[in-house]
Amino acid sequence: MQDALWHYDLLLFRGRPLAPKDEVDFLTMFPHDEEAVAAGRHCNGIMANRVPGFPLLAVRGKSTVPVQWHQDKVDLPCPPELDAMYMLRVPPRGGETLFASASAAVEALAPERLAFLESLDCEHRSDSLFTADEGGHRIDPAGVWRTDDMESAVRRANDSPVDTKFGPPSIVHPLIIRDPRTGRRSMLYFPAFFYRFVGYSREESRAIAEELLLGATRPENVFTMRWQPHDFLVWNNRMLLHSNTDHSMFDYPDREMHLVFLDCKVPVVPARAAGA
Ligand SMILES: [Fe+2]
Repeated sequence: MQDALWHYDLLLFRGRPLAPKDEVDFLTMFPHDEEAVAAGRHCNGIMANRVPGFPLLAVRGKSTVPVQWHQDKVDLPCPPELDAMYMLRVPPRGGETLFASASAAVEALAPERLAFLESLDCEHRSDSLFTADEGGHRIDPAGVWRTDDMESAVRRANDSPVDTKFGPPSIVHPLIIRDPRTGRRSMLYFPAFFYRFVGYSREESRAIAEELLLGATRPENVFTMRWQPHDFLVWNNRMLLHSNTDHSMFDYPDREMHLVFLDCKVPVVPARAAGA
């Protein structure tokens, strides 16, 4: 099963009822941070609702975060490799989840462009103000940048106490990474937390990121997950970008799922070092 996930990046088990114990047993077969899981110190701990007796499983309904292509928790030193969603109740319309291969997009780049992108280090900030609607730097599934007042968000974040419970206030990762198992390249990027590439202005950084993101998320590269009850989806968060869809399309009571970011200890490997 691990070989299948590392090869295909996404596994779908369609319409198969699972008990919470089945979910946890399956997910913890994969490499993970046993101490964090045993202590309940989950990297998605910001999600308060949990399945009673199974704290690994966050319970989610309508997603109210902005629609944006991203990878989860790249503001951590070791972002999760494995994410999972188990759908319990599906709205009559809407609520799809979109996936695009960051790895395929990066591997398809021209050699000179790839060499340049491999030289970049990406600064993400997890200041709480950056998660607010007014403080983002993001791209929506249609490929349209939303220009937010980032500079004032930075000023407010710098002037405010930072809640570091769920990660450091800022982290620098290589933009282009390499999977230590398969050797495939990918990227690490979360637009809402993205600040800049080290050594580049915000405007330059935005232009670089936009070109990469728009290529990766072209409609022909996107898999749209149309959920059915009891679908169980597991994916490699470091290899794929994902996005929610517009939550105004459905009502909160129509949707219920379990969401897991599996805590991880596998270090981030820069592609430039691994390929040298
Ligand atoms: Fe996500």
